Amino acid sequence: MLIKKSAVIPSSEITPRSLYLNRRKFLAGAAVAGAVAAVGSRLDELATPSLTVDADAKIDGVKKSPLSTTEKITPYKDVTNYNNYYEFSTDKYEPAGLAKDFKTRPWTVTIDGLVSKKQVLDVGTIIKMAAPEERIYRHRCVEGWSIVVPWVGFSLSELIKRAQPLGKAKFVEFTTVYDPKQMPGQQGRVLDWPYVEGLRLDEANHPLALLCFGMYGEALPNQDGAPLRIVVPWKYGFKSAKAIVRIRFSDSQPLNTWNKMAPNEYGFYSNVNPNVDHPRWSQAKERRLGEFLKRPTLMFNGYDQVASLYSGMDLKKNF
Ligand code: MTE
Repeated sequence: MLIKKSAVIPSSEITPRSLYLNRRKFLAGAAVAGAVAAVGSRLDELATPSLTVDADAKIDGVKKSPLSTTEKITPYKDVTNYNNYYEFSTDKYEPAGLAKDFKTRPWTVTIDGLVSKKQVLDVGTIIKMAAPEERIYRHRCVEGWSIVVPWVGFSLSELIKRAQPLGKAKFVEFTTVYDPKQMPGQQGRVLDWPYVEGLRLDEANHPLALLCFGMYGEALPNQDGAPLRIVVPWKYGFKSAKAIVRIRFSDSQPLNTWNKMAPNEYGFYSNVNPNVDHPRWSQAKERRLGEFLKRPTLMFNGYDQVASLYSGMDLKKNF
């Protein structure tokens, strides 16, 4: 995002440079349960039956969500070959190839801070906390491109309620994995690693905020944030942190990575807002990947149901 303005992105340009579809097979079974035990998980997680997630396979039992848009879905090949994922590369075409062998199992997520239930959960346990839904969301990057993706997951509020936040918890911070051996972008200092994002607790509890582990009916490809990410469709894409390893509840506003790197360019709230331009990019219009003509950008990316979260706030100041 610091690098260059995105140009016209016809679908033909998004064809993979490194050909492949990233189909990993991973087993989260007894071996993972052992790994979880080693990091001190609680007994209730270990009691969860082992989960087999085969990235080639469909995720079963996915309900269609009424929160979905009926707009045309962006082709899978575009969404999986044009990515912002600085842990791998600042080049949007490179994460697909560079993340191909990224290991997403075993994988644990630490839940801590101001909660009653501090715990370390295996990702397989998290995935099974609630019934999976397909949510077809618009997703807009601050750089001016957008996509429509059938994500698979469930409301982040499902995890939050199980963590039992304390009354003084007002914010949630998401930390991404730090693993420079596997993530070549982390071998340099293009960002201050690990990647951190945050939401106000009421934003995180909004039914639209998605805890996501799949898309297009399959497990999430590595370049799109496997094994676990969030998707916050009314905010610019950088708020939707990928490869999450820690979810911390706090009473103070987290310092998100892009805000830390360039506070005049990237705020904490980062709600999609066609009336507030980024210093380098107009936010009035956007280009859907694979389309030529720009379309107008909608306030809150068209998700008007979140407006009440910000009533009385100056959204120019709180950009
Ligand atoms: N999460 C991590 N960990 N690292 C990143 O570089 N990039 C963000 C966001 N989440 C990023 C991240 C940005 S800028 C965008 S636009 C979206 O991921 C892109 O998601 P996508 O590649 O699945 O479209």
